[in-house]
Order: sequence, then C-alpha cells, then structure tokens
Amino acid sequence: MKLLFVCLGNICRSPSAENIMNHLIHQAGLENKIQCDSAGTSSYHIGSAPDLRMNVAAKLRGIELVGHARQFTKADFEEFDLILAMDRENHENICALDRSGQYRHKVRLMCDFCTRHTLKEVPDPYYGGDEGFNQVIDLLFDACDGLLNAELLNNAI
Ligand code: 4NP
Repeated sequence: MKLLFVCLGNICRSPSAENIMNHLIHQAGLENKIQCDSAGTSSYHIGSAPDLRMNVAAKLRGIELVGHARQFTKADFEEFDLILAMDRENHENICALDRSGQYRHKVRLMCDFCTRHTLKEVPDPYYGGDEGFNQVIDLLFDACDGLLNAELLNNAI
C-alpha cells in the first residue's frame, strides 16, 4: 500500500504527515506493508528540506522530519494507492491534473481520517506563529492514527 501526502510547498504539512505516519507504521510493525511519500502541488520549494519551524514543532512530539520537497506529478496517480490532500485547495489542484476523473477515488482529504479533531482541513501554518505549527502536528497525529486504523487501508494490506 503506497500513501502520498500532499500540501502546497511540501516543506511543512505533508512532510510532517509522511514522517508521523512512518513513525506510527514503525510502531505497528507494518513497514513491509505500507510505504509513504509526500509532495507539493507547487514548484516553490523543490529540493528544500522541511521548514525549520515545522521541525521544531515535530521534535517536541518526538518526530524528526526527513526528506526533500518535490512537486506532485501526474505519474503519482498511478504510483500511489491513496493520495491525501492537506486542504481543499490541494485537493482541487490534484484533481485538476486528473481530467478524466479516473483517479478521483484515490484522492482524499487528510482530515477525513481525524477522530478527535473536527477541523476539515490542515491549516497552512507558513505565515503564522508557533501555535499553528504545533496545531498541525496535533491534527496530523490524529489523522495518521485514524488512517492507520481505517478500513480502507486495512482491507488493502
Ligand atoms: P506547506 O506550507 O504547503 O504545508 O508546505 C507552505 C509552504 C510554503 C508556502 C506556503 C505554504 N509558500 O507560500 O511558499
């Protein structure tokens, strides 16, 4: 099962989702069943490491952010089983690359998997303060946990 987490820049939210999910997958001993990657809909930060402010917030929760930003491409629709958009704009931009709609069933909003939080999108923390980054990590722990326990995923592995 291959999961792709997608945000705008691939330096804050989606690398956090990828690394938190990998942490939970490791804890569950499912490394040989589930693989994760992340990408951005924009080309703004291609090649960049995760944002330092995001790294600080992740470290407070025991997560080290690794990886470098890349842009989402049409080839990702074939490569991945499930594509998780952080917000509705990411979702729209991903679906805009799938003109025929043949991959629409693979694209979901990350917050659909939250069980504790009621927010429908992972807010973009880029232009805000520390609290926004901490909120992203908290939301993503909830969503990743929900995803790991989701029927959709467990029926596929
Ligand atoms: P991300 O955050 O989509 O969670 O990686 C952002 C990163 C960069 C920008 C916006 C959001 N930017 O405008 O450069």
